[in-house]
Amino acid sequence: MIIRQMNVSDLEEVARIEKVSNPEPWTYADFEDSLAKEDGTILMFTAVDEVSNQIFGYLVLYTASGESEIVTIAVAPDFRRRGIAESLIEEVLDISQKSSLYIEEINLEVRFSNEPARKLYEKCGFEIVGQRPNFYHNPKEDAILMKRIVNA
Ligand code: COA
Repeated sequence: MIIRQMNVSDLEEVARIEKVSNPEPWTYADFEDSLAKEDGTILMFTAVDEVSNQIFGYLVLYTASGESEIVTIAVAPDFRRRGIAESLIEEVLDISQKSSLYIEEINLEVRFSNEPARKLYEKCGFEIVGQRPNFYHNPKEDAILMKRIVNA
C-alpha cells in the first residue's frame, strides 16, 4: 500500500467509498472541485495498492495560515482495521512537519458517537478541545472538536 496525491481517475471510487462511509457524504463534484483548486490550500491523498491501483481510502486536508483541518477521511469497509487511516494521518503529519506550509496545528470535528474515528484520532495524538451541540444532521448530533499541535 502506498499513499499518494489523489487524482481525477480516483474520484469515482473515492466518491463510492464516501457514500457508504459518511451520513452526509461529499459528492463526486465536491471532490472534483477541491481537486481543481490550484492554490495549494487543499491537500488530498489516496491510499492505494501500488500493483492493482485499488483504492483503499483517502483523506482531505484544508490549510490556511498555519492552521489546517481534516475535512474528510474514510477507508473502504472491507479494508478497515488494517492501519490504513493511521497511515493517511501519518502522511499528513509528516508533510505538515516537513513542508513549507508551516502548519502549526491540525483540527477536526467528529460525531460524538463515532467511536472508531475518535479512537483513531486519539491514537494519532489528537486531543479533545471542545464540543459543538447539534452540529451534525441526519441524524442530529454533537460534534467533538479535536486538535493536534504539529509545530509548536
Ligand atoms: N473500533 C475501535 N477503535 C478503532 C476502530 C474501531 N472500529 N477503527 C479504528 N480504531 C482505532 C484503533 O485505535 C486503531 O488502532 P488498532 O487497530 O491498533 O487498535 C486505530 O484507530 C487505527 O485504525 P486504522 O486501521 O488505521 O483505521 P481504519 O483504516 O479502519 O479507518 C476510519 C478508520 C474511522 C477512517 C474508518 O472506520 C471509516 O472509514 N469510518 C467511516 C468514515 C468516518 O467515520 N470517517 C471519520 C469522520 S470524522
